[in-house]
Amino acid sequence: MTRTLALITGASSGIGAAYARLLADDHDLVLVARRADRLADHAKELRAHGAAVDVLPADLMTHDGIAAVTDRLAAGDVRMLISNAGAGGYAPLAEVKSADIDGLLTLNAVAPVRLVHAALPAMLAAGEGTIVTVASLLAFSAGSTDPRAPRRTLYVAAKAATVGFTRTLAGELADTPVRVQVVCPGVVATDWNSGAGHIIPWAMSPEDVASASLAGLRLGETVCAPGLEDLDSALDALLAAETAFVAGGNQPTLASRYTEPRA
Ligand SMILES: NC(=O)c1ccc[n+]([C@@H]2O[C@H](COP(=O)([O-])OP(=O)(O)OC[C@H]3O[C@@H](n4cnc5c(N)ncnc54)[C@H](OP(=O)(O)O)[C@@H]3O)[C@@H](O)[C@H]2O)c1
Repeated sequence: MTRTLALITGASSGIGAAYARLLADDHDLVLVARRADRLADHAKELRAHGAAVDVLPADLMTHDGIAAVTDRLAAGDVRMLISNAGAGGYAPLAEVKSADIDGLLTLNAVAPVRLVHAALPAMLAAGEGTIVTVASLLAFSAGSTDPRAPRRTLYVAAKAATVGFTRTLAGELADTPVRVQVVCPGVVATDWNSGAGHIIPWAMSPEDVASASLAGLRLGETVCAPGLEDLDSALDALLAAETAFVAGGNQPTLASRYTEPRA
C-alpha cells in the first residue's frame, strides 16, 4: 500500500489529534505543535497503526516556528496539509496586549497562509495535493450581537480571513488537481472548551469534526460545516449576499442616501 504523507498542525490534542488517528492507517505523518512530550506520546500510539511518524515541535505564533514548518514543507514530499493549530484569545480588543495581537493573528491567520504557500508548489508539480484549514463557524459571526458569544474580535478577524483565503484559493486552483477545504466547526469538546473543567454538553466530538472533513473532501466540499444539514442552501445564500454587495456597490456614482440634502 502506498502511504501519503500528511502534515498536521495542532496535532498534540483535540481536532488535530483526531485527524492524525483517522489518517494513521494509510498515511505517514508529520505532527506539529508546541508540546513535544504530547506529540511524542501521540506518535508512539500512531506508529502502532503502521504509520511512520515524525514530530516537529514549533510555536506557530512566531516567525521562527512558522519557518521550521515551511522548511519541512519545502522538502516537497507532503501531499496533505492540515492546518489546524489555533487559539481563541477571547477578550475585548481594548484589553489585548499588542504582542498578543501579533501572536494571535500570526497563529490563526498568517501561519495557515504561509504553510499553504510553502506546500503548494510541490503539490502542483506532483499533480496531487490536499489542503485543509480549520477555521470556525465564528468566522461568520461578525454581525451577531448574541450576548452568549465570546468577546472574539481578533479571532473572527483571523478565521474570516482564513475562510476568505480558502474560498478564493479554491477558485484559483479549480483547474489543478490540488483540493482545498476550510472546516467550520461549531462548539467542539476539546481542551479548548474543557480546559477549565467546563464541559459543554452540546459540543461535537473532535473525531466527528475530523471525519466530516475527510468525508467532505470525498464529496468535493470546499467549505465543510460539520453540523450544518443544508450546506448547499447556506452557501448559495452567502454567495447571493456577497454578489449583491459587490455588483450592487461597484458603481461610478454615489448611492442616493449620500447625496440627499441634510435635513
Ligand atoms: N474547540 C472548539 O470549540 C472549536 C470550534 C471551532 C473551531 N475550532 C478550531 O479548531 C482548531 C483546533 O482546536 P481544538 O478545539 O482542537 O483545541 P485544542 O485541543 O486546544 O488544540 C489546539 C491545538 O493547537 C495547538 N497550538 C495552539 N497554539 C499553538 C502555537 N502557538 N503553535 C503551535 N501549535 C499551537 C495546540 O498544541 P500545543 O498547545 O501543544 O502547541 C493544540 O494541538 C483551532 O484552529 C480552533 O480555532 C475549535
